[in-house]
Amino acid sequence: MDNLIEMAKKKAGIAAVDEFVKDGMILGIGSGSTVVYAVNRLVERMKLDGLKVVCIPTSFQSTQLIVNGGLTLGDLSRFPNIDVDIDGADEVDENLNLIKGGGGCLLQEKIVASNSEKLIIVADYRKNSKILGEQWKKGVPIEVSPTAYIPLMKKLEKMEGSPVLRLAEMKAGPLITDNGNFILDVDFGEISDPKMLNQKIKMLPGVVETGLFIDMAEKVYFGQKDGSLISRKRSIT
Ligand code: 5RP
Repeated sequence: MDNLIEMAKKKAGIAAVDEFVKDGMILGIGSGSTVVYAVNRLVERMKLDGLKVVCIPTSFQSTQLIVNGGLTLGDLSRFPNIDVDIDGADEVDENLNLIKGGGGCLLQEKIVASNSEKLIIVADYRKNSKILGEQWKKGVPIEVSPTAYIPLMKKLEKMEGSPVLRLAEMKAGPLITDNGNFILDVDFGEISDPKMLNQKIKMLPGVVETGLFIDMAEKVYFGQKDGSLISRKRSIT
């Protein structure tokens, strides 16, 4: 993996933790490779400064990160009100709408984000777009019930999408999510109205959740190629 990309991810992960995380907070812990740097920073602050936080995971991966880092693991039943959720994204548009789910964890990520006071996104420079679909060419991840995937593919084609069933690696057949579902990656080209598209997809029976995160992120950090950092805050309309 390109070292500049890893440095950019690290920069974003550290900045999000240092700006938003305070002692005693309930945190959402997203999934993906950028979040690893944020978790590493939490562990560092726990060891150096005695930081105490409770971490709510969004996936099997983030549960492992929390446990292996020695952080306190919580769940939504005991901690339904999260202060700050730190997560990655596959693409961010100019209004801070997101495509997520490249790692297949979108359902739990969206549940945790929707129960968080603040969703803070950590990303590298490749994720920064004007319009969703401009740079992320793998399509919008949609988690679906396995029984409905064929009819859903046909319906999504009628909506001018090009759906592909995501396959597992090192195993023949579909990828199974942490929740026992399939993922359809649906290319809609450049998405001019992500809010409308999200609503339409969510109306289809069998759709469990979409990877379109609309009006949810409060701030995004983009680590840059040259080692600097830029951030964008959502303007509340
Ligand atoms: C997983 C996600 C990830 O947050 C997203 O894919 C970004 O991952 P990375 O930080 O590895 O680029 O949505 O479902």
